[in-house]
Amino acid sequence: MAVHEIRHPLVRHKIGLLREAGISTAKFRQLTAELGRLLAYEACQDLPLENVTIDCWSGPVEIQQIKGKKISIVPILRAGLGMMDGVLDLIPSARISVVGLSRNEETLQPEPYFEKFVGQLDERQALIVDPMLATGGSMIATVDMLKRAGCRSIKALTLVCAPEGIAALQAVHPEVDIYTAAIDSHLNEHGYIIPGLGDAGDKLFGTK
Ligand code: PRP
Ligand code: URA
Repeated sequence: MAVHEIRHPLVRHKIGLLREAGISTAKFRQLTAELGRLLAYEACQDLPLENVTIDCWSGPVEIQQIKGKKISIVPILRAGLGMMDGVLDLIPSARISVVGLSRNEETLQPEPYFEKFVGQLDERQALIVDPMLATGGSMIATVDMLKRAGCRSIKALTLVCAPEGIAALQAVHPEVDIYTAAIDSHLNEHGYIIPGLGDAGDKLFGTK
C-alpha cells in the first residue's frame, strides 16, 4: 500500500486553516470540498487512457479519453459527503455508491446502517471519501463491503490520518492506496486524531 501525503502548497495551506478552533460551518464545508477536489486530482494521476478518433472542426483527430467504466465515488456517511462535491467538480460523470457507517463512541467499532452501490463495480475505479481515518475501522469496513460487491480497484481519500489507522488498513487491505492531506501524531484515549480536526461530521453538518 502506498500512502500519499500531498505536499502541494494549496493542500498544506487549506488543511492548516481547517484546524482552527471555532471555524465556522460554512468555512469548514468550503475547505473540505476544496481539499476533496485537490486530493482527487492527485488520486487520478494514473487513470488509464485510450486513444479515440473524433470529428474535430478541422477533420478527424486522435484524442485521449479515460478508459473504461465511469469512476464510482464512495462517500462514507455522513462526513464523506463533505468531500464528495469537490470530487464531483473534477469528475462530474462519476457514479456514486453510498455507505452509511456510524462509529460507536464506546467501542470505536463502525456500525453499518446503509449501503447502496452502483452496478458493475468490478469494472470501476472506486474512490472512497471520508475526512478522517482514525482507528481505520470505518475505512476497512467500507473496503470489505466494496470487495464483497466485486470491486477490485479501490483508493481512499482522507483529509487527516492517524498512523494507527494507516497501519490497520495496511494490515487488512495492503493494495488500497491512501491520498491524504495530513498524517497526524496519534489517537487519544477516545479514538480522536491528535491534533486532528475534532469531530468532522459535527463540524460539517453543524450538529452539537
Ligand atoms: C467519523 C469519520 C469516519 C470515522 C473515522 O465518522 O467521518 O467515518 O469516524 O473513525 P475510525 O477510523 O475510527 O473508524 P462518524 O462515525 O463519527 O460518523 P459521522 O460522519 O456521521 O459523524
Ligand atoms: N472521527 C472524527 O470526526 N474525528 C476524529 O478525530 C476521529 C473520528
